[in-house]
Amino acid sequence: MLPPLPYGPADLEPVISARTVGLHHGTHQQGYVDTLNKLVEGTRFAGLSLEQTIRATAGIAEHTAIFDNAAQAWNHAFYWHSLRAPGGGPAPPRLAIRIDTSWGSLSAFREALKASALAQFGSGWTWLVQDGSRLRILNTPNADTPLVLQVRPLLAIDVWEHAYYLDHQNRRAEYLTGVIDTLLNWDFAAENLGST
Ligand code: FE2
Repeated sequence: MLPPLPYGPADLEPVISARTVGLHHGTHQQGYVDTLNKLVEGTRFAGLSLEQTIRATAGIAEHTAIFDNAAQAWNHAFYWHSLRAPGGGPAPPRLAIRIDTSWGSLSAFREALKASALAQFGSGWTWLVQDGSRLRILNTPNADTPLVLQVRPLLAIDVWEHAYYLDHQNRRAEYLTGVIDTLLNWDFAAENLGST
């Protein structure tokens, strides 16, 4: 089932328009959910959660289509919660300490996050993850998800063109600056942070 957005479709404007949110959530994400449901019907994956499906199919060639659609459904749900309006601003203290440890300052972290997202060739995702006691930025191509890596995802930015092309055309940097500076949901990132 398609999870509802945690806010209204126009709430992320002007960085992400209601039209983009409507298409992205109602067409792209809905498409992944619908395709997944068809693919798993009558299989041993029917009835599993998205997380269980992703873990059960990762790296298995014959289940690539199920993995891709399940991972995209999960990644998108995580992305919507990674944003809010107003967002951005300072990180909560327990996260800010870890950001300072890894990047020296919040502004240096923002630059590193943007640079990583800009460097993703073609479609994919940029993530803030917890790797043991450290925070890291990583990219995943296409549908790949850090859920199957030994790290804990904290925030996601969708860098597929469908996430920004209607509003920013090919100017990915403009979309990223708006998202990183004004839409990141730090409280969601802090909730995802583990104790280690
Ligand atoms: Fe997307």
